[in-house]
Amino acid sequence: MTNSTSVATHERWTSLSIWLHWLIVLLLLAQFAEGEFMGDLFDKGAAGVSEMTALLGYVHIGVGAIIFLAAAVRLWDRFAHGRPAAPEGEPNWAKTLARISHALLYAILLAMPVAGFVAWFFGSELLAELHKWAWDALMVIAGIHVLGALVNQFWFKTGVLTRILPGHGRST
Ligand code: HEM
Ligand code: HEM
Repeated sequence: MTNSTSVATHERWTSLSIWLHWLIVLLLLAQFAEGEFMGDLFDKGAAGVSEMTALLGYVHIGVGAIIFLAAAVRLWDRFAHGRPAAPEGEPNWAKTLARISHALLYAILLAMPVAGFVAWFFGSELLAELHKWAWDALMVIAGIHVLGALVNQFWFKTGVLTRILPGHGRST
């Protein structure tokens, strides 16, 4: 099982896709940093927290919306302009694991902001819980993803890390 999706394959990622990958990673770090302020704001309301906490909470909403857009554009680019073929030297089980984890990563990146929005605008405790649970799931899958990238690069010697680096992309 290699490329059973209908996505065209190329040697390289698009530059857009590469930059969006690292933008999303950076913004996730930001979400982690101000997540607990958002938690305070959600629990106590704007009147019950300091101005700084409220501000960081609102930043959380803005950054979350940008992550949603960045993930959606990346997904669009992947289907519109194709992605690199799974590396030759990668065993089939690892290719399958990569496909599953990539699908889950996209799903969480798109679902989390939606859950956050519903939690915030409709005061849903259930969605807030799901939002927090999704973060834990994201960390586990991202952990597997990073480990997979390192194993690919240094054990299977497939060069996947190099091809996701800025400067190694194609225009379209
Ligand atoms: C992919 C984008 C997002 C990520 C990665 C993210 C991540 C996080 C994290 C790490 C927390 C803290 C969880 C904890 O305390 O255990 C949090 C809390 C929260 N986020 Fe987000 N967030 C995102 C988008 C959004 C958006 C767009 C909203 C919309 C308003 C939002 C609303 C909330 C709320 C209401 C909480 C507090 C939940 C609670 O404490 O019960 N998030 N988020
Ligand atoms: C923690 C946040 C991260 C998320 C959400 C994430 C998500 C993704 C997604 C969705 C893909 C695209 C797969 C596709 O479209 O088929 C991808 C590719 C990739 N990511 Fe990440 N990633 C993260 C962090 C990292 C880190 C820290 C590294 C480096 C160690 C990394 C290395 C890679 C590599 C090498 C690829 C390309 C795989 C290939 O060429 O086949 N990622 N990532």
